[in-house]
Amino acid sequence: MNLTHLVSLADLSAGQITALLDRAQDLRPQALSGNTQRGALQGKSVCTLFFEPSTRTRSSFQLAAMRLGADVLGFDASHSSGSKGETAVDTMRNLEAMGVDAFVVRTSVDGQLSELIDAANASTRFINAGDGRSNHPTQGLLDMLTIRQHKGHDFSRFKIAMAGDIRHSRVARSDLHALKALGCGEIRVCGPQALLPDDATLDGCTRVADFDEAIADVDVVMMLRLQRERMQEGLVTSLEHYHSQYGLDTRRLALAKPDALVMHPGPMNRGVEITDAVADGPQSAIMAQVSNGVAVRMAVLKTIFGA
Ligand code: CP
Repeated sequence: MNLTHLVSLADLSAGQITALLDRAQDLRPQALSGNTQRGALQGKSVCTLFFEPSTRTRSSFQLAAMRLGADVLGFDASHSSGSKGETAVDTMRNLEAMGVDAFVVRTSVDGQLSELIDAANASTRFINAGDGRSNHPTQGLLDMLTIRQHKGHDFSRFKIAMAGDIRHSRVARSDLHALKALGCGEIRVCGPQALLPDDATLDGCTRVADFDEAIADVDVVMMLRLQRERMQEGLVTSLEHYHSQYGLDTRRLALAKPDALVMHPGPMNRGVEITDAVADGPQSAIMAQVSNGVAVRMAVLKTIFGA
């Protein structure tokens, strides 16, 4: 499979997404044990160029690159010359001049990966680790891998409910790209009207206003983080009201299939979009998502380097 950069899952076919998932599945034992593939990217340098905070994505990319034998440079925006006004492009080009072969980029600016790719040497590789509200492709892949591991490979059989702040969520967009590409049987979306996108993002999805109805008989419930800053913007009235309308608790989860899978990309607002009992309960796949992140990122790194 030829892949120079990974910017958006919208750029990939179902076959390419499936190939990456297969590769990640094969890498899972090495991803989570000391039995690593340190020869695979020996001599390559990978920089995690994060202009926004991260726990899961940055750490798992760093572990993935290290377990493949790459040199890993963790760029910390808060202690960089960006605070003196240096642009993202200049920052990237300076690190590239030090011999970085691939950048894993997180940025608040939608579409900034294209600007960086245009400014870089043709041989430099880029992976999107989340840009604005647009894309988070490796999160989309690890979510699909998690669903496949628990429910099987035939997405046409699945009913999935996605709930919360879809409008501002790059995770939601990447999950929706992947679910549609893989032919998911039914995708129901639910959230406050002000937090639902009004563009083509939800084409092919069923909008269900009432969360009890949205969750009925589904195989997977994908919860999204309520971005609390939306309260300051007046898009959410109160956390209590939001929880009562869109929070996932054990009563609501009982409306889904008995073996329905609960997913959340993290970080979670416990007690707001999800209760402790559900997040830590027997149907939760949240830690499995995190574990799969390392394998998925190893698969993507190997693929973009043709390793
Ligand atoms: N899911 C996710 O992107 O988490 P981080 O922001 O911690 O990387």
